[in-house]
Amino acid sequence: MAKITVVGSSSMDLVVTSSKRPGAGETVLGDSFKTVPGGKGANQAVACARLGAEVSMIGCVGDDHFGQAILQNFRDNGVSVKHVEPVTGMESGTAHIVLAEGDNSIVVVKAANDCVTPAYIEKTEDVIKQSDMVLVQHEIPEESVAYVSALCAKHGVLLILNPAPARPVPEAVLEQATYITPNEHEASILFGGAPLEESLRRYPNKLLITEGKRGVRYYDGTKEVVIPGYEVEVVDTTGAGDTFNGALAVALAEGKSLADSLKFANRAASLSVTKFGAQGGMPTRSLVEESL
Ligand code: RIB
Ligand code: NA
Repeated sequence: MAKITVVGSSSMDLVVTSSKRPGAGETVLGDSFKTVPGGKGANQAVACARLGAEVSMIGCVGDDHFGQAILQNFRDNGVSVKHVEPVTGMESGTAHIVLAEGDNSIVVVKAANDCVTPAYIEKTEDVIKQSDMVLVQHEIPEESVAYVSALCAKHGVLLILNPAPARPVPEAVLEQATYITPNEHEASILFGGAPLEESLRRYPNKLLITEGKRGVRYYDGTKEVVIPGYEVEVVDTTGAGDTFNGALAVALAEGKSLADSLKFANRAASLSVTKFGAQGGMPTRSLVEESL
């Protein structure tokens, strides 16, 4: 069993479906409202657990109802919450999602996720040290991401940096990460608008640019490779990237080749978008293997 640690956000997703997305100053009538667990860190942790990994989450929730529901959801999915603390006087992270016109738009309020500081993470150094793979994203403070990547480098632990949502990252962090998994937009922010071909060549077998159903691009040291995605009936793309990252972590931690791991991750992500909610369609191990 691969031991995976996720350092990141846990949130509640407040999801509205509507046939029309309101413009500035406009009010529209929606069709439905649902509250489902989300947050990039939590989603990636749940994705890993469904695929059979032993998963520890390092994060923070608020001392509110959402915090309790988020903790229960981790337990229900077999994710260890030994290092997920409810923070007194804080609200849980929330994501305000509108599903309209075939796509989502999201406003994230980090709230308690901002309490995942380097000082907080420092207390979990042993957990990180004993992991086969660590996953980190951009819904916790910038300095925490740098701290995690330095810790992983110090202990020789593999690290996937999923630089989402988009923001620039110090060069040292990019060097320390084992894998970097931006989409095209996040990649252009990471590399200051440099041509993606150039960036891919700078980080062979490490920079993995996701392009939705078109697949994943990387440079293998001699040529560019595309591992194609899968065509499926899309219900909700929220969390597809998280499923991809979780599945990639599991496959790589188990020693699969990069190409095979990407194929596995693409398949898992494609299954995830066939159901509502970030975690709704996250597949089990057998479901991915049957459909590969
Ligand atoms: O990646 C999807 C996630 O991003 C959602 O679950 C939502 O919480 C947003 O933060
Ligand atoms: Na989904």
